[in-house]
Amino acid sequence: MRILSPEAGDVDLVERYAYPPDGAWMRANMVASLDGAAQRDERSGGLGNPADQHLFLLLRGLADVVVVGANTVRAEGYGPVKPSGGWDGVRDGRSPVPPLAIVSRTLDLDFDAPIFAEAKARTIVLTTTTSDPARLETARERADVIVAGKDSLDFPAAVKELEARGHRRLLCEGGPGVLAQVVAAGLLDELCLTLSPLLLAGHPTRILDGAPVPVPPELTLAHAMEDENFLFLRYTRSR
Ligand SMILES: NC(=O)c1ccc[n+]([C@@H]2O[C@H](COP(=O)([O-])OP(=O)(O)OC[C@H]3O[C@@H](n4cnc5c(N)ncnc54)[C@H](OP(=O)(O)O)[C@@H]3O)[C@@H](O)[C@H]2O)c1
Repeated sequence: MRILSPEAGDVDLVERYAYPPDGAWMRANMVASLDGAAQRDERSGGLGNPADQHLFLLLRGLADVVVVGANTVRAEGYGPVKPSGGWDGVRDGRSPVPPLAIVSRTLDLDFDAPIFAEAKARTIVLTTTTSDPARLETARERADVIVAGKDSLDFPAAVKELEARGHRRLLCEGGPGVLAQVVAAGLLDELCLTLSPLLLAGHPTRILDGAPVPVPPELTLAHAMEDENFLFLRYTRSR
């Protein structure tokens, strides 16, 4: 065991969180309390601090596409991604913002909402062949639609299609239901985990919510950083 001595001084977050130079890479960014809660009052917002919010936005800026479950979109009231401070130069040669790719079976989404109507990069919907035909038609009018899998999204096929559309730097913002499936499908390359100095108890979900992962990935600690007693951990898949 060894102590990770904090080194004083500013960190270049763009450099620290740079994606590998080539190949597809799926990063997840999540926040949890010290007792493992991924929710506070049914949302994740109450768990973070300004540095976590800054990192959340920066990781969006670094990504080609942001994959997120429909429950998170509904629970957190997601709007379209907007350009953010700290993005200087990070999107050169790319669209001004990454599109959201929303995972949904029911397509119970407000297709008139800003997340579709005001998106600077056309929102993508990842859904299944058995989704409601009328809603699917509306989805196709308001978004780019990727259909993969019959009753349940075929995550590897959907991710492959995202890559085929030029989105190789993927960011998954959860929620726990989607992240559990991404991990179970062997698709996760990196987990960025903010540990929030809170103890909450109750019955919140953890950052993964699903069946046991058949082959748990082995992860390596790439770095640990601290801000206001929050820990910012970056784990990457051991190759
Ligand atoms: N701590 C964190 O970092 C963090 C991050 C994100 C979210 N959260 C919190 O987590 C909660 C939401 O997470 P969640 O786990 O309930 O939901 P989620 O993972 O965001 O979304 C689940 C939804 O995704 C769709 N979906 C999932 N698997 C699918 C499949 N195989 N095929 C087709 N569609 C599929 C379904 O949408 P439809 O119902 O539309 O079919 C399902 O209801 C919220 O409280 C949010 O605040 C926390």
